[in-house]
Amino acid sequence: MATTTTLSRAFPLGSRLNERGVLELGGCDALELAREFGTPAYVVAEDDLRTRARAFLDAGRASDQRDVQIVFASKAFPCTAVLALFAAEGLWCDAASGGELHLALGAGFAPERIVLHGNAKSEAELRMALRHRVGTIVIDNFDEIERLGSLIAEGALGDRGPEGQPVLLRVTPDVRGETHEKISTGQADSKFGFSIQDAPAAIGRIAETPGLTLHGLHAHIGSQLLELEPFRRAARELAGLGEFPVLDIGGGLGVSYTAEQPAPPAIEDYVAALVEGARAGGLPESSRLLIEPGRALCANAAVTLYTVESVKQNVSRWVAVDGGMSDNLRPMLYGARYEAEVADRFGGSTECVLAGKHCESGDVIVREARLQDPRPGDVIVTPATGAYGFAMANNYNGVPRPPVIFCRDGEARVVVRRESFEDLTSRDVG
Ligand code: LLP
Repeated sequence: MATTTTLSRAFPLGSRLNERGVLELGGCDALELAREFGTPAYVVAEDDLRTRARAFLDAGRASDQRDVQIVFASKAFPCTAVLALFAAEGLWCDAASGGELHLALGAGFAPERIVLHGNAKSEAELRMALRHRVGTIVIDNFDEIERLGSLIAEGALGDRGPEGQPVLLRVTPDVRGETHEKISTGQADSKFGFSIQDAPAAIGRIAETPGLTLHGLHAHIGSQLLELEPFRRAARELAGLGEFPVLDIGGGLGVSYTAEQPAPPAIEDYVAALVEGARAGGLPESSRLLIEPGRALCANAAVTLYTVESVKQNVSRWVAVDGGMSDNLRPMLYGARYEAEVADRFGGSTECVLAGKHCESGDVIVREARLQDPRPGDVIVTPATGAYGFAMANNYNGVPRPPVIFCRDGEARVVVRRESFEDLTSRDVG
């Protein structure tokens, strides 16, 4: 029975159930992975990451915009191995803090391919960006223009030529997509960027600041958007604000978390819609278009493996596993829905609540899971945990963060080791 079950599209590309009905990721048996590396663990199918990166790059090349660059939003999966893979595939990188900049540089992104974001960049972060000559700083507010101006006046640009530091201006085009309010950013009342009304004054201020060169505009309207229209509209509005050599339209393409959720648009259609919108708004063919996908590049590449610790029946059937809100905060923060399966008995029908091990009732990973007779010791898999899972992992209840395991062609390797108890005290100084 199990072998006839089709995997939901939330699973990594190339996943399958083997002859014994056990999930295989990147050619590796999920039960063997759990045995070898322990649980919880983030398991990444390396080829999935590559395939999606290439789909974005191909879509850019196939579009009628001459210069399209795909900028990985590193916040989605800030792990050196993931960043290094994308750097090798030819992507650029979006870093939104000094820490992400450090990771991006360490993973091998050329500084000119790094875009620095942030609505509250510190002086130290700006200094670091200037010192490393990052290709683009996206300016978010008037204070930042002043801060950059003073740093440059002090000589922070070094011996950079007359062009100085290229910058983009982040604007809020007041275009809203359908998504959770906590990850919607395009609305007028947002903490990010300049309003359309303030943009001309900001452009003037940049022009008056020696050492800054405005290359264009940036907008990011929100995340996990499943319709193309808001993207098309935002690209058109943004391009309509003036002719610039660069337009950065942010990220936000949604992904499949469950089979029931509407399928997201294909990567090719998304890129085509952005180009179409931007061109309709007057973007010159010669201008560079930057696209900053995070989730769409990595969410579906990974699954989390857990082990069942206890099963209890009261009003509901509670299946408690060895992880939870320390490795996946998304259900608790955004009400995000996930699927779950027993790794060697797919297609179950027992209705259960998949709960974590943390000390609060909100620690529920999947509220309405359907599992096949779950028992202590079973390995449970939740797909689509590659984006913002590792990124937002924490040590609540002193739980060490899981490792990241890369799988490819039947070979598995640890790229981030499991945190140890010693790690938990490694910063104590007194
Ligand atoms: N560019 C900028 C400027 C952004 O702020 C973001 C995401 C992205 C690109 C990438 O967006 P994506 O393609 O991944 O949707 N923790 C939340 C997501 C927050 C996204 C913040 N910014 C979650 O788990 O859903």
